[in-house]
Amino acid sequence: MNYNKKSVTDVDVTGKKVLLRCDFNVPQDKATGAITDDKRIRAALPTIQYLLEHGAAVIACSHLGKPKGERKPALTLAPVAQRLSELLGQEVIFAKDMVGEDAQAKAAALLPGQILLLENLRFDKGEEKNDPAYAKALADLVGPDGIYVSDAFGTVHRAHASTAGVAAYLPAVSGFLIQKELDIIGGALANPKRPLVAILGGSKVSSKIGVINNLLELADTIIIGGGMAYTFAAAQGGKVGDSLLEPDWEQYALEMIQKAQEKGVKLLLPEDTVAANAFAADAESQVVPTGAIPDGWQGLDIGPKTTAAYTAAVADAGTVIWNGPMGVFEFPAFAKGTEAVAEALSKTDAITIVGGGDSAAAVEQLGYADKMTHISTGGGASLEFMEGKALPGVVCLLDR
Ligand code: 3PG
Repeated sequence: MNYNKKSVTDVDVTGKKVLLRCDFNVPQDKATGAITDDKRIRAALPTIQYLLEHGAAVIACSHLGKPKGERKPALTLAPVAQRLSELLGQEVIFAKDMVGEDAQAKAAALLPGQILLLENLRFDKGEEKNDPAYAKALADLVGPDGIYVSDAFGTVHRAHASTAGVAAYLPAVSGFLIQKELDIIGGALANPKRPLVAILGGSKVSSKIGVINNLLELADTIIIGGGMAYTFAAAQGGKVGDSLLEPDWEQYALEMIQKAQEKGVKLLLPEDTVAANAFAADAESQVVPTGAIPDGWQGLDIGPKTTAAYTAAVADAGTVIWNGPMGVFEFPAFAKGTEAVAEALSKTDAITIVGGGDSAAAVEQLGYADKMTHISTGGGASLEFMEGKALPGVVCLLDR
């Protein structure tokens, strides 16, 4: 995938209407609807401010949650409009619909320096279906001289009407957020400062297959942690007790071990494990070899010997890519491995890149966020990027 794409600074936006796709899919309190983390809104500010300061009229849009084509009041973007307005220090006009009468009237009346936010794009089935009529209706809001700016890195792996389809009707460029994600993650994959160490965790091998396979082509060392390590241990004949296990992926795990040998990639698997007698924060625990977990016990974190080996590998790295926690970090008793890795990343001189989703949440929760070179705003998107897949929301942008 070519990710040398035109950005907002490569086009003249002055006096133009700009359709700006953001990823305002923010977490909300279930009971009150209050936004519990506004990171994604803050991440969109540099592009929004640039556009407004350069005399564009900005029609921002996003999805929120998975309303599946229905108008679900709990998933309105109204609270996002309010938070965005507080952060920008100016009014954010809110349209009650996406491409209907209210949006059309408010878009037509929008002046340079003003910003309008459309209602949740996924209230219409056309969004996820990438319906050309819906994409065209969105494009029509900015008129024939309009521009499409995509800054929704979190959704670039989706070929939806607002993330890809709309680019058929308007000149399409990236915002600063997408540009930064492409530069940093793309740079680390295409031309890394070596050694390149990839730390892959999380519960399932099946969700990380693509990324393990692709990184075996690129990395010098791959470190495996989290629940998926037990499928590797079982595949090698180990006893994993009640740990998470995907028997259907054991053969694949063996193939990855072999591929690492063939490619000369160091593949580090956990030697010891903190096993618990229940999946609970207050469970009893003991440290055991990863391949000798007693029946009735389950691995919930990497053990101390493994932690020492993994943090040593990070210390010598030129670039570290981290995707997925080492254990159940939500339980303090089983967060030590993840915390030690986060701390090691915070101390190394290496370029440190944390994939979105769980690993980003872990780094934030453990207080190391400001010590990383880059924390991706995309969960699924950063994973697919690291899998080497073409991302529809990037492919559709104009090449430089
Ligand atoms: C995310 O939160 O990862 C993005 O906003 C994409 O959301 P989706 O998985 O609902 O498409």
